[in-house]
Amino acid sequence: MTTHIGAVSGDIAETVLLPGDPYRARWAAESFLDKPRLVNETRGMLGYTGTWNGHPVTIQGSGMGMPSLSIYVNELIRDFGAKTLIRIGSCGGMQDYVGLRDVILAMTSSTLTSPSSGMFRELNFAPCADWSLLQAAASAAAKRDVKTHIGGIYSSDVFYDERPDLNEQLVRHGILGVEMEAAELYTLAARHDCRALAVLTVSDHLATGAALPAADRETSFGDMVEIALEAAFAPAP
Ligand code: HPA
Repeated sequence: MTTHIGAVSGDIAETVLLPGDPYRARWAAESFLDKPRLVNETRGMLGYTGTWNGHPVTIQGSGMGMPSLSIYVNELIRDFGAKTLIRIGSCGGMQDYVGLRDVILAMTSSTLTSPSSGMFRELNFAPCADWSLLQAAASAAAKRDVKTHIGGIYSSDVFYDERPDLNEQLVRHGILGVEMEAAELYTLAARHDCRALAVLTVSDHLATGAALPAADRETSFGDMVEIALEAAFAPAP
């Protein structure tokens, strides 16, 4: 047991999927895992462990934003031995060719700040995805009927953004979408010699204001979960 995860040793698999929303953790575990069992409910941040094609998998909510994700990922890696961590979440599309329901595989993530900024001081560390996971996710996505984009994203500290000028520069530099967690996940994975990737579904678009109706979200998010699971257990290239 840790401060924020009530699971006991052995309850958490080496492969962990991380939705921001604890209810999405429950939905993904019940929809995609065999014999999912609740292993954490501290602060309502649900975590489930089950198997996928015989492989043990934990699906643990991370909460919203990098400080929240940092707490869960630190404990998952340092106390429970997690080795492969894949964020499954939503993001806002930024390029005009990125549409609602498209999937984004985040090769890198830019930030203004992250929980690790204090440690890096003047250094602009470049958080990037694990190559083996990214490659496997790209292959898994290519087999499905879902438009997929691979490239840089932006991990923001705010959902209610007050910097249109910054978004303009990000769009100009090819950034595909915005969410609030991946950069710190990639940084922690690098620090602890783990593998990490963010597989994201576009739930809204910054330029057009279009947004997926709540009812559509679950079905659109299924592709993302399956891509993440296939990537996690793909044979080494
Ligand atoms: N901004 C930040 N995070 C998000 C967004 C957004 O527009 N959509 C989904 N996650």
